Amino acid sequence: MAIATSHEAGVLTIEFNRPDKKNAITTQMYGQFADALIAARNDTSVRSILILGKPEVFTAGNDLQDFMNNPPHGTNSPVFRFLHEISHVDKPMVAAVRGAAIGVGTTLLLHCDLVYAASDARFSLPFTQLGLVPEAGSSLLLPAIAGYQRAAEQMLLGEPFSAEQALQLGFVCAVLPADQVVAHARRQAEKLVALPAGALRATKRLMKEGQLASIEARMREEGEEFRSRLSSPEAKEAFSAFFERRRPDFSRFD
Ligand code: COA
Repeated sequence: MAIATSHEAGVLTIEFNRPDKKNAITTQMYGQFADALIAARNDTSVRSILILGKPEVFTAGNDLQDFMNNPPHGTNSPVFRFLHEISHVDKPMVAAVRGAAIGVGTTLLLHCDLVYAASDARFSLPFTQLGLVPEAGSSLLLPAIAGYQRAAEQMLLGEPFSAEQALQLGFVCAVLPADQVVAHARRQAEKLVALPAGALRATKRLMKEGQLASIEARMREEGEEFRSRLSSPEAKEAFSAFFERRRPDFSRFD
C-alpha cells in the first residue's frame, strides 16, 4: 500500500510508501490516509499516531499528474476528507521528517502536535510557483505560528528551506541527526501512550478548539481557490514545465 500502516504498543504508524514517485500523494492515498485516521479515532487501543516518510523523502506533496487528471471536487473528495480528519484528530500526532517535505508535506505538519526534523530535511511551500495557493489551512496557520512576514517569505517565494529555518519558524520542535529522528519521534509517541488518554484529548481540545471553525472555513476557501487555479493557464504552464523538466515561463500571464 502506498500508505502503509502498522499498530504497535498503542502507536499507530502511518507511512508514506511510494518511493519511486518520491511519495507524491495521489487521490487514492489521501483516501487511505483519511481512512487510517478515522479508524484510529474509533480504536481505543490507538493512543498516539506517528507519521513517517522515507529516509530520502518525506513526501513530494500532491501528485501533480493525478491532480491534473482528477482535480478534487467538493468536500467529499478524498483530499478534503484527509484535510478534515487531520485537522480534527483528537489523539496526539507526532511526525518525523527526513528529506524533502513539499507542499502538503509541509502543511500537514502544521496540524501535528510534535514535529521532529532530520538535519537534512528540506521544506517548501511552492504553491505560487505552481500557479496555486496554499492549502490545509496553512494560509491561516503559518502566519499564526511564524508571524506574517516570515510566513509570507515562504508562501510568496515558495523556495525550499532548512530544518533549522523550520525550527525558527516554529512548527518544528527539534532538529536531530538523520539517523536518530525516527527513533526519537517514536519514543515521544510511546511516552504519549503511557499518559492518561483523557487528559491528553482534553488538553489538545483546549489548545485547538478556538481555531477549529476558522480553520475549517479557511480550508474551504483555499480549496475553492485552489480548484479554480488548477485549470488556470499559470498552473498549466507550471505543471507542464515540471514534467518537461524545464523552467516555467510566466511572463505572458498578467
Ligand atoms: N507529482 C507527481 N510525480 C512526482 C512528484 C509529484 N509531486 N514528485 C516527483 N514525482 C515523480 C517524478 O515525475 C519522477 O517520475 P519518473 O521517474 O516517472 O520520471 C519521480 O517522481 C522521481 O522524481 P525526480 O524529480 O526525478 O526526483 P529528484 O530527486 O530529481 O527530485 C523532488 C525530487 C521531490 C525535489 C522533485 O521531484 C520535485 O520537485 N517534485 C515536485 C514537488 C512539487 O511541486 N509538489 C507539489 C506541491 S503542491
